[in-house]
Amino acid sequence: MFRHFFLSAVVSLAIAGCAQLQEQTSEVEQKSSELALLMRQLHEDSKLMKAIIESNDDLSGHFPEYVKGLKTAEPTDQKVVGENFNAMSDNYVYNLEQLFSADKNNQKEQFNLVVQSCIKCHRSFCPGPIKTIKKLKIKLN
Ligand code: HEC
Repeated sequence: MFRHFFLSAVVSLAIAGCAQLQEQTSEVEQKSSELALLMRQLHEDSKLMKAIIESNDDLSGHFPEYVKGLKTAEPTDQKVVGENFNAMSDNYVYNLEQLFSADKNNQKEQFNLVVQSCIKCHRSFCPGPIKTIKKLKIKLN
């Protein structure tokens, strides 16, 4: 319960910064932060991972090594920096590592867990792109 209240406080603090970011990026790409650039790359690479999994190809060699720099990339809004963000980064990277060591027949479920951990962090720090991120989920039969 307490944690929930705490998170909502963080959310309301963080929204302003991220909304600003959305406006900026729709114009000419001005001074994107390190984290924003990393995220754009990550989004592209996640689409690629999805395509690989859906066509039953081999994921190996496609691990985005730069995610190791998630916690140290400079964000647009300094309010992002902190324990909460670090915990969510770790959770995301953990799920990603699980994906790369998963059996082929578990990859779709595991990929969706990865996407869920993107969404979890975005709920707290950057709600704008959530709709786009949700589209990454793989439909399970
Ligand atoms: C640990 C938290 C966290 C995780 C995990 C995370 N994001 Fe982000 N994301 C952010 C923050 C914070 C920003 C705002 C970056 C900035 O403005 O500096 C952002 C920005 C973005 C953007 C907008 C970039 C731009 O400016 O054009 C996209 C798209 C995005 N993330 C997609 C993803 C996807 C896809 C995943 C998972 C594969 C993901 N994110 C995982 C926190 C996270």
